[in-house]
Amino acid sequence: MKICSFGSLNIDYIYSVEHFVHAGETIPTLDRSNVCGGKGLNQSIAMAKAGASVYHAGNVGAVDGQLLLTTLQANGVNVSLVSRQNTASGHAIIQVDAKGENSILLFGGTNKMVTEEQIVHVLSHFEAGDVLVLQNEINMLPQIIRQGHEKGMKIVLNPSPIAGIVETVPLELVDLLFVNEEEACLIGGGATAQESAGRLRERYPQMTVICTLGKKGAIVYGEEEAFFPSYNVKAVDTTGAGDTFLGFYVGSMVKNMGVDECLKCATAAAALSIQKKGASTSIPTLTEVEQFIADMTTKE
Ligand code: RIB
Repeated sequence: MKICSFGSLNIDYIYSVEHFVHAGETIPTLDRSNVCGGKGLNQSIAMAKAGASVYHAGNVGAVDGQLLLTTLQANGVNVSLVSRQNTASGHAIIQVDAKGENSILLFGGTNKMVTEEQIVHVLSHFEAGDVLVLQNEINMLPQIIRQGHEKGMKIVLNPSPIAGIVETVPLELVDLLFVNEEEACLIGGGATAQESAGRLRERYPQMTVICTLGKKGAIVYGEEEAFFPSYNVKAVDTTGAGDTFLGFYVGSMVKNMGVDECLKCATAAAALSIQKKGASTSIPTLTEVEQFIADMTTKE
């Protein structure tokens, strides 16, 4: 079973700050780093590190995109379906505050250049039963979902960033929806993540909803229901934690692990990622995740 991760690739400009800059304010930064990111790239790397066969599809800039491709390849992701365009790659300007929380400004760049022909070409490399992983940082999402579904691919959607998604995306074709609490409530319309996930299941019976609850843990609402509490660790930088969670969940799922095991593995990977700076740079290896779970189990 192959995974097609059709998604964004960004250069992340990360600034450590005392607090997020307010309107009209100018503040000094404490530290700066440039790393590869983008929800698509982060999720591709996390799925590959979890042991899955991952093909990334998308667009990078001809001039500034090489580092994005090299980084994916160095982490075991196939980049033969990434196209080069004669304009700038996507980028993100990220502030990380003293609590490890982030605030992100996105520039779409080549991520917004997906074409109808490209979708047909990319999906021609996959077949029924393969998995299509998507986020909301590229254009043409509804078309990609429809064509992937027509081929019989399993559709995995992380609707981040959430703006505009509910109105445009055919949620009735989505098999797995990865959301945080806020996204669950916005899409599902309930007062809590649990209530919203329940409503989504009623509206879209084919869908399994996987919802991260921050420090409280994560839940799965599908044919099976599951909960796993968060590990108690100190956050240095939460950027990319959701991507790491999704990557290890899906990477475990394609290895036929059960829902409880997928949830445990994803929660452990996210706990490790928030203890390091950066997005793609903070994704742990499978060995690190397994060791962490073993250590935590011994402590219980
Ligand atoms: O989820 C984290 C990612 O969001 C960052 O890598 C940044 O590029 C934005 O896409």
